[in-house]
Amino acid sequence: MFHIARFKAEPFPLEMHKVRVVQKLNLLPIDERLQAIQEAGNNTFLLRNRDVFLDMLTDSGTNAMSDRQIASMSIADDSYAGSETFFRLEKALQDFFGMKFFLPAHQGRACEHILAKVFVKPDDIVPMNYHFTTTKAHIMECKGSVEECFFDKAIIPESDNPFKGDMDIEKLKALIDRVGKDRIPFVRLEMGTNLIGGQPVSLKNIEEVGAFCRQNKIMLVIDASLLSDNLFFIKTREPQAKNMSIHEIVLAIAKTADIIYFSGRKLGSARGGGIVTPHKELFDQMKNLIPLFEGFLTYGGMSVREMEALAIGIEETLDIDMISQGPEFIAAFGQMLQKNGIPVITPFGGLGLHLNARAFIPHVKSEEYPAGALAAAIFIVSGARGMERGTISETRNADGSEHPASMELVRLALPRRVFTLSQITFIADRLNWLFENRHLIGGLHFVEEPKVMRFFIGRLEENGDWQERLRAKFVEDFGAEAL
Ligand code: F0G
Repeated sequence: MFHIARFKAEPFPLEMHKVRVVQKLNLLPIDERLQAIQEAGNNTFLLRNRDVFLDMLTDSGTNAMSDRQIASMSIADDSYAGSETFFRLEKALQDFFGMKFFLPAHQGRACEHILAKVFVKPDDIVPMNYHFTTTKAHIMECKGSVEECFFDKAIIPESDNPFKGDMDIEKLKALIDRVGKDRIPFVRLEMGTNLIGGQPVSLKNIEEVGAFCRQNKIMLVIDASLLSDNLFFIKTREPQAKNMSIHEIVLAIAKTADIIYFSGRKLGSARGGGIVTPHKELFDQMKNLIPLFEGFLTYGGMSVREMEALAIGIEETLDIDMISQGPEFIAAFGQMLQKNGIPVITPFGGLGLHLNARAFIPHVKSEEYPAGALAAAIFIVSGARGMERGTISETRNADGSEHPASMELVRLALPRRVFTLSQITFIADRLNWLFENRHLIGGLHFVEEPKVMRFFIGRLEENGDWQERLRAKFVEDFGAEAL
């Protein structure tokens, strides 16, 4: 895609696939969109999909499958134990990662559950480049905690640093000196760092962290859920990888790790998850928990049809046309917004476009949840649903006070190969309108607040009546009939 010659056209991403199955979409009138988001407690997770025009909530389980993936499902071997499908998936993963042992699980967080249960003891600390919501929740369930060792540059919203996801080894060393190795069950390195804007980790940093862990005899666990975007960025941004094949990059990453786990809802564009390791002892420590929590060792809670699709999807991750589509569409989307001065996270990452809500609506304080408020406003004016990735996604401090997130982001995910450039142009146009009218956006407050992972099912209400004022301005500018 990125290497295609153009005559006069400005660079634009080009699809190296064609659409063969479609799903009809609805764009509701603004009155109904307003009603839908209010009924959903201003939480985009609680919207019904029939009320959503462009579902940019996540790329999890929503990537478009290839014809080969769909076709593979028809040969799935349905048996509780010893299914041929399992052996095909196992072989695909062995080839892909160059690791011998594979444990299936029903999704990424199920792998995190197993890892936390086996390795994390009370008072343990798990260092990581950045936390992910479900990872941290599972570690905390086992009475451990998380310590992030990112470079300060990671959370500067607008930057030209190509690898904001890198781990700061000096911080890791300082942590070990402070608490001692015995309290560190493993170091976790997350590819395509989700919560700071899908930002990649460089191969150089992965290798350095790997060498450091080996020297210090600490286990290195890699979360490869967002590996496909990270591979694209290593290939295109990192000089040392320029002449490496995608597979050589995967193998170089895998060589550093003791355990790799992933969400098959992201990596492999299907649904499921898995843990791989080259070490028999580690495999043996974990394997007994699979039948207890997931399902028998040869399906781990996944449907065999999805396992077949996952095996093909993993193999297709080695195709640059496949892995470039997401990042290139995200960059094209981001450039449309940047032209109008909309604050976005740069460099553009993987997974989705990330808006900097703190800069978009600086008049809304962290305690009023700017990212949540902006996500609700975007739905009202466009029918697109994004996801809050800010203070609502954090956990309150032990004393009950708010823990303001280091970044207030709204993520507009671009599931791979799903949306067209015209749909992206539509949402960019609505965001431009919203940015001009941003003074109308106000804050939110909780009316129902679950203790654990409140962002999933918590309910909020607007502070004051800003949503009605936003609706009225939209109707004034676009006309009462406009969608
Ligand atoms: N690790 C990372 C980096 C993830 O992004 C996710 C999921 C998981 C683990 C958990 O995997 O959903 O299969 O249980 N991220 C989703 C998202 C929820 O929308 O970003 P899962």
